[in-house]
Amino acid sequence: MLFRRFIGTVAVSVMLLAVCSASAQTSAPIRFIAKSKIFVLDAGNATYVFGVNEQNMLQHIYWGGHVTRDEDFAAAQSFREWASFDLGTTTTPQEYPGWGAGLYVEPSLKVTFPDGNRDLVLHYVDHRVEANTLTVTLKDIGRELFAHLRYTVYAKTGTIRRDTVIENRTDKPVVVENAQSGVFYVPRGGGYRLRYLSGRWAGEWQLNEEPVHTGVKVLESRRGSTSHQTNPWFALDRDGNSDPEHGSVWFGALGWSGSWRISVEETPHQQVRVTGGFNPFDFGYTLAPGEKLETPAFYAGYTDGGIGEASRILHRFERAEVLPNGSGARTRPVLYNSWEATEFNVDEAGQKALAEKAASLGVERFVMDDGWFGQRNTDHAGLGDWYVNAKKFPNGLGPLVQRVHELGMDFGIWVEPEMVNPDSDLYRKHPDWAMHFDGRQRTEARNQLLLNLARDDVREYTFNWLDELVSNNDIAFLKWDYNRNFSEPGWPEVPTDQQKKIWVKFTQNLYDILDRLRKKHPKLEIESCSGGGGRVDLGILLHVEQVWPSDNTEALDRLTIQQGFTYAYTPHIMMAWVTDVPNFNGRSVPLQFRFLAAMQGSLAIGSNLNKWQREDFDLAKQMVTYYKSIRETVQNGDLYRLTPPVDANFKASQYVLPDRSKAVVFAFLHSQQFGRMLPALTLRGLDEKATYSVTVFDGKSRPRGAPIPAELSGAYLMNHGFALPLTGDYDATSIKLERVAD
Ligand code: DGJ
Repeated sequence: MLFRRFIGTVAVSVMLLAVCSASAQTSAPIRFIAKSKIFVLDAGNATYVFGVNEQNMLQHIYWGGHVTRDEDFAAAQSFREWASFDLGTTTTPQEYPGWGAGLYVEPSLKVTFPDGNRDLVLHYVDHRVEANTLTVTLKDIGRELFAHLRYTVYAKTGTIRRDTVIENRTDKPVVVENAQSGVFYVPRGGGYRLRYLSGRWAGEWQLNEEPVHTGVKVLESRRGSTSHQTNPWFALDRDGNSDPEHGSVWFGALGWSGSWRISVEETPHQQVRVTGGFNPFDFGYTLAPGEKLETPAFYAGYTDGGIGEASRILHRFERAEVLPNGSGARTRPVLYNSWEATEFNVDEAGQKALAEKAASLGVERFVMDDGWFGQRNTDHAGLGDWYVNAKKFPNGLGPLVQRVHELGMDFGIWVEPEMVNPDSDLYRKHPDWAMHFDGRQRTEARNQLLLNLARDDVREYTFNWLDELVSNNDIAFLKWDYNRNFSEPGWPEVPTDQQKKIWVKFTQNLYDILDRLRKKHPKLEIESCSGGGGRVDLGILLHVEQVWPSDNTEALDRLTIQQGFTYAYTPHIMMAWVTDVPNFNGRSVPLQFRFLAAMQGSLAIGSNLNKWQREDFDLAKQMVTYYKSIRETVQNGDLYRLTPPVDANFKASQYVLPDRSKAVVFAFLHSQQFGRMLPALTLRGLDEKATYSVTVFDGKSRPRGAPIPAELSGAYLMNHGFALPLTGDYDATSIKLERVAD
């Protein structure tokens, strides 16, 4: 799709921007200064500069705080060789270095030509600007191999998007062995700190912080999808800065749901460079004459507002520019999901009973999870057979969907389209549709195999049954699951030199199906789930409204998981269920704590409502009503993390509407010790001159401490703050603030 858009761009006449006058310089977000051959990109409070040097290489010049005077930037000048061991090719910060001419740092592009030549030296050819996108074309010094570097500037949200289209205009095939979207440079010097997110199933979104040293730190997935293990996001700042709201931070994230890599490299010359794109492991994309390959998008931003503002920039960007159909400007409905209540034991009567109870709580969307199709009674069978199980739903899905609608909710359903159980009609009919190498064992995970979605016939089959399911059943929402990673990534049906394209085509076809479904069913909403948070990235977010961060729904663990998640992704898309106890870790925390934990994102309920007592329903109704009164602030506001990630005992977060008229605070105490009271919590992001009403949401009577006054000024709240009277174990509260006077 994007690829086609690019062709369109080339075909239309485009405007070359060669601006020199000072007045124009300050208005256009993308400027080419012809005299010095430099490009100046302004994205919000950040400026990004690179130029064409005297050797015709594209050379990075600056990325950091906003600089208004273009004349301050001198023309790019290549670096001299440091020694015969470190040539200028390596020491010059090239915007998109090909592997050739003695390049020893991470290349952006590496190819093999059919005659065995593997030397690639990319030089500037031309450039064009269209709207907020600059395309700079580079070409090998000898051969017709092109790299079109695209830079899109989102001035409002302060973000830059980079990707590259590699084009083979030779008359022979070229094998692309390493295709990166681009490389970002931070100001030369040592002492950087890297933040990144890692994890595993049920333990995603753990924040790591470590100093950057000489060498390469690789963040990656080789699994064919984004992964629970590492998420394609990074942030760099100066080591030792513990202030979350001040200081320079350079950050970025890849938009790709296949195997990816971000390498954070500090050269011996103290140049930190961050290269991101397709994972080069087992990569080998043969480009026929005339063929092109589009790399993933690599997004980046800069702020001097600390890691807190870095997250908020990404949140705003995701809501404004990434999420489909403008969904980032709306709010998410309160959802019920049946999985933890019934697992595979779904049937019409049972789901109707749950739906009735869910509706009584104020739930707006009812989702039936796994178990409704084929012979799906356990996880051993059924995937691939996407017809309604007649024993469980003798009259089809119609009566259930109708009941859900009568109850005032819309209906959603679980699917796992890329998978097949060997025990299924589909597999018995099309064993070759499963990803495999001929004559080799097919490794199962959760008793299932991956369909080879790279195949056009599998893609069409998948689109068609999904289209039918949605068309025939008035389905408003799909929970799209994906419960394993690639193994034996073979594609024996195509010529050998095409087989490795599976790493790219699989994901492209996934996006294609999602796009076509959405186009045909414009009201359909979709959640990306991969056994929890295994497929959350800026690529999938172009096609889905929300994501499932983790299968771990235990409220205390969830605080850490959710906090980690928000470093890269907006709470708007973060589904958070209230579930039953004891849960993970055998832990039982009170229902109020569980609700307040889940309210920090998009609230949902996943409990077995058949087991709830009257008082649970009463509290839950109150909680859902409260959530609806604050959800605009939580989902579309600015998030401030009030406690550091290392504090496991006390966590607090605050959300503020952009116009600062409303805010909400959540606070959670794990366990009180020695009778200690909590220190005052100072708030952020309010209007210091305004007066706010302060309402504590609290079912409990508080035995100690002065009550929080009913009205306080923004200045007082942000400087003095208030002490929270949380006591005992698993105590939690929320405070709502509303501007009552300017
Ligand atoms: C994994 C998901 O993360 C769960 O929420 C649930 O949908 C199961 N799959 C169903 O098999």
